[in-house]
Parts: sequence; structure tokens; C-alpha cells
Amino acid sequence: MPDHDLDRYCAENQDRFIAELIDALRIPSISADPAYASEVRRNAEYFAEAATRAGFANAQILETGGHPAVYAERIVDPSLPTALIYGHHDVQPIDPLDEWLSPPFEPQVRDGSLYGRGAADDKGQVWMHLKALEAHLKTRGEAPINLKLIVEGEEESGSVHFEDLIRRERDRLAADVLVVSDTGIPARDIPSLSTGLRGMAGVEVLVRGPDIDLHSGAFGGTVQNPIGALAHILAGLQDPTTGRVTVPSFYDDVREPSAAERELFAKVPYDEAEFRAEAGNVSALAGEQGWSVPERLWARPTLEFNGIWGGYAGPGNKTIIPSTAGAKITCRLVPNQDPEDIAAKVAAAIRAAAPPGVSVEAVGNAGGRPVVTSVDHPAVQAAVRAVARVFGRDPVFTREGGSIPPVESFARLMGLPAVLFGVGLPDDRIHAPNEKLDLELFGKGVRVLAHLWDELAVALPATRAAR
Ligand code: BES
Ligand code: MN
Ligand code: MN
Repeated sequence: MPDHDLDRYCAENQDRFIAELIDALRIPSISADPAYASEVRRNAEYFAEAATRAGFANAQILETGGHPAVYAERIVDPSLPTALIYGHHDVQPIDPLDEWLSPPFEPQVRDGSLYGRGAADDKGQVWMHLKALEAHLKTRGEAPINLKLIVEGEEESGSVHFEDLIRRERDRLAADVLVVSDTGIPARDIPSLSTGLRGMAGVEVLVRGPDIDLHSGAFGGTVQNPIGALAHILAGLQDPTTGRVTVPSFYDDVREPSAAERELFAKVPYDEAEFRAEAGNVSALAGEQGWSVPERLWARPTLEFNGIWGGYAGPGNKTIIPSTAGAKITCRLVPNQDPEDIAAKVAAAIRAAAPPGVSVEAVGNAGGRPVVTSVDHPAVQAAVRAVARVFGRDPVFTREGGSIPPVESFARLMGLPAVLFGVGLPDDRIHAPNEKLDLELFGKGVRVLAHLWDELAVALPATRAAR
């Protein structure tokens, strides 16, 4: 059958695809909260069944030391190239709940978008893959390459057991290319392929002062205040003028983007006013001076405060010197920074800044390594053609400020090149209330992935012969 049948099948079945996705979004698979563990498992089982319905074989739950992953495959012919699809079926927590216009796990279509937790990140984008295979099987009877699918259950919790899983399942996961749809595009009419993800390192700080909360009149002016000490320590981690992180040796291993990379970044349309609007209507931008905003997002490391607590924040005054105060910090990393090394450096800088009269505990947790993928790889060029067919224009090459640590794990442990194609929009509110997925882009995403398999069938055997 000619190719347009693939597109027509997708168009004709789009409403059903969405109806099915809505059911998948009803399961509250929040990996961070242990109270939802059984829901994450139920969700894994749901995705295994959905993969089977779409035409994958051998669908099964893969246990990890934490939440389960889903594996399925369609092996057409061992001599054909094999794509390994990675995604995640877990979602972020939903607070603050009262800001959702429709409940997070009761998905609703409004103005061409599907609202619900996981709509864009990442259930909706995993769904594109299931439907792309379905389209091939229903219009042609078979897929043009071998497909393997692994859908993780704890990406939003740092993929802590995923490398163990890769090592254990290495043979089963063997492939020629990794394909991931868990990223975004700059705007609805500007398709893109992502070519890099930042890494992450975290530090948790606890400042302890007096054993008990003290009366701020009876003791104020004589005792070190833990909140004040914490504020002082945190403020000192960044230079307010240059926007640089002041932690000693923080930038030592940063590989600066090459002229060629900076040229690619500059080709991606960027409009400051639009970006400020997408960033929640901030009045001005901040960050490291000397770098463009895309460069700051994609090629420069950061240190961010994610949470801070201590003392009294209820109505009225409570005149105390609190006993403790704390904060959560994460850094985004770029090549060649090492998460453990950065976490240790930040923790050491925090401890060194402790004023007398309080004890400061700072404990690092490594999140994941940064990764940059090749734009020249034949699989990426195949993806360029698949995107162009559906969007009517070539994709731009972007990077992501966010992190998907397994992409780096697959590259390092299995030597897999990656195609990162997603359809998230900058205003999809992933990780926030009212997360959404643009349904027209979802439909285009299904078609791009369906065409990608055709393009890879042509592009990859030559690669194999060449190596
Ligand atoms: N899909 C995101 C990563 C992402 C974010 C890609 C923004 C493109 C744009 C992923 O689910 C995610 O949120 N990752 C976490 C990883 C962390 C828990 C190690 C992140 O980036 O915070
Ligand atoms: Mn994601
Ligand atoms: Mn996420």
C-alpha cells in the first residue's frame, strides 16, 4: 500500500487514539509517592496490555529494585535493523491540586488539547509509539524494522534502578538506535529534533540551631537564626552580578560549546518576549551573563533552589527563632561534568559557609549525566526526513535543558545513538498543574514515528555494512 495510507489511517483513527489515551491517563502512576506504588504497577500492566493490542509481542513487566518497567517487542526479521523505543509511564506529583481546572486524573479535552497529568510527560508520547506500530500493521500488515519497547516506571524519580535493569537485560535490549519521545519542540510550526540533555545533581541542606524553637524576644539578638544562616549560605552560592555559580571548581569540567554548536543554537528561532510569557510571564530574565538564553538552557550548568522550609508561615506572627531550616537544591549539568563530583563540591561549599552557632548538614545525591547526541548519525538524518514529510519543513536541531538520564545510560553502557523526537510545547506545563498535550501535534507525532520506521529501514542497513 502506498504511504499515504499510513497517514490516512492515523487521521481516520485519531479520535479513537485519543479516547484510549484518556483511559491511560486515568491511572495515577506517581512514582515519587510510595502511597501510589500499586497504581504505578497497575499502570505498567495497562501499558503492557496496550502494547499487545497495538501489535507488540511478548509484552511483560520487568521488575526493578523500585517501580516496574514494561517491555515488549516486534521482531520482524533478525537481519533487519532494530530500534529500541524508551519512554516512561510514571508521572510527577499533582500538587498544588486546587490549581487544576479539571482533575489531574480525569482527563479533559479543551481547545484542541488534552489536559491531565502525564498527557505530554510522558504517557501521551509513549502512546504515539503504540499507535505508530498499529498504523503499520493495519495498513501494511507488518513493520519495516524490528521494534523493541521499554517503558520505565521511575524516570520522574531519577531512574535510580534503570542502569541495573540495562545491565541485566542487555541482550534483550540490544538495538541499532534508541528512539525517545519525551522532549519538545520550540513552537507548533517549528518541529525539532533534540540533540542533547542536561544532567543533574542534587543536594539537600539541613541547618540546625537551638534544640527547640526559641522566643525571639527572650533570645533574639544572641542566638544564630537557622533561617538567616540558611539564607546567607544559599545566597552565597551564586554571584548576583554575573549569574555564575560560586561553588569552587564548579565549572572546571565544563566543555564549552564549539563554534559549530553555537551556530546550530543560533538557528533556532528565539523571541525573548515569547519566552518570558512561556516562563510564566516573568518581567525580566536572569542567569549567567555572556551567553544567549538558548545557550544558558542547553549548554551551561545551573544551580537552582527547589524548596526551602523552616519556622512559621501561618497567619499572623509567631515570634520565634526556629530550631531548624532546610532546603533542596539541584544543579543541571553539561558535558563533561560528573554528577557525584558536582554534588560533593556543592555540599562542601555549603558546609564551609556555616556560620558559628549552627550545624550544617549537606548531603549530595547524583541524578544523572548529561548527554549530547550526534546530528550526523544516519538515524538522525532519517528522522529529519520523517519530520519533514509530516510537518512540511525540516526540523531545527535543539537541545533540552531538562534531563532524561537513561538516554546517557544507553549511550554509555550499550553504545546506542539516540533520536530524540517529541511534540511537547513550551507551554504544556509539564510537572505543573494543568499539564496538557496538543492533540494536533499528537497526531503529527504518530505519523512522524510511523514514517521514521520506513526511513530507518532504508538508512540503517548501510550503517551496519559500513562498520
Ligand atoms: N521529559 C522530562 C525531561 C524534559 C524536560 C525534556 C523538559 C524536555 C524538556 C523528564 O520526564 C524529566 O522531567 N526529567 C527529570 C529528570 C530528573 C528527575 C533526573 C528532570 O529533568 O527534572
Ligand atoms: Mn518525561
Ligand atoms: Mn518529567
